[in-house]
Amino acid sequence: MSRHLLLQIKIDKSLLKCDSRPMLEKDNPTQDNNNDKMDWNDMVEVFEQWLPYIQPVAEVLIDLADISENDRILDVAAGTGEPSLTLARRYRNQNIDIIGVDSASALLKQARRKAEAEQLSGLRFQEMQAEDLNFQPASFDRVISRFGLMLFDNPLRGLEEMRRVLRHQGKLAVAVWGEFHKLPTMTLIWDVLMKAMPPEKRPEKPRISNLGRSDDLEALFKAAGFEAYEIKSFDVPYHFDDFESYWSINTNGGLLEEPLNMFSPSEQEILKKEVEILSIPYQENGHLIFQNESLLVLAEKT
Ligand SMILES: C[S@@+](CC[C@H](N)C(=O)[O-])C[C@H]1O[C@@H](n2cnc3c(N)ncnc32)[C@H](O)[C@@H]1O
Repeated sequence: MSRHLLLQIKIDKSLLKCDSRPMLEKDNPTQDNNNDKMDWNDMVEVFEQWLPYIQPVAEVLIDLADISENDRILDVAAGTGEPSLTLARRYRNQNIDIIGVDSASALLKQARRKAEAEQLSGLRFQEMQAEDLNFQPASFDRVISRFGLMLFDNPLRGLEEMRRVLRHQGKLAVAVWGEFHKLPTMTLIWDVLMKAMPPEKRPEKPRISNLGRSDDLEALFKAAGFEAYEIKSFDVPYHFDDFESYWSINTNGGLLEEPLNMFSPSEQEILKKEVEILSIPYQENGHLIFQNESLLVLAEKT
């Protein structure tokens, strides 16, 4: 690996542009990239670090869903509790019924812990596969889901299930991540690692961008039976105090840790230096600021 690495490590000037497209990106959105089928139960602490960055998406999804008092709401792939917890805080002391479901029990345990600590009422969490929701048809006024759909083994089945449990004229608000090259927080490091790796060792692109193209997302909503829907792009800004904090949060756990650990410590130092240079266009007064694209879908069951 080291000889290959030495050959590969030279700064690619084209990557210094903020809108650069990853050199290794494959453009097939339907590829079966099963490689990042991580066990979410091991991810509680790692995932919790990212929550403040994606909080704006919880707020905007709740706004989009146009929720009223007395509504019954389902949050699919609720993880450690979002957007359910934000919603319960907004409707504190009002009558609201929120159920958050997820396939990872450890994440739900954390969600329950938080709800209890804040004495939030009107919400509960249940372990459940999105593709097989254990609820009656038309039993919810609203369904919400943040950053889960593109990770399901079967997104179409998951979406059909969300539609089935929605009542007539009920609304669904979903957030997914945009295309891979529109997620610079991650791709800046990913691209450097992939370029330095022999092609046969490169992992598939992670699932997070599987629904990142609005055409694909639209096709999925149509296939699931939705006739009325709207897709919007929503930028999620990630601020880091400095390069060190950017590097450590991205490489200690999560999708980048494993590919990085394929390199020796000295190789990792060289790669880190390269990423630091490439991060210059994202620096403002020593801070790093990345805009990452998410796609929001508001659909109605007609
Ligand atoms: C990126 S996290 C998002 C969690 C939460 N919605 C949030 O935004 O904080 C993705 C979640 O999807 C869940 N998940 C993935 N596939 C699932 C499936 N088939 N059924 C239910 N949950 C699933 C994972 O367990 C994980 O909690």
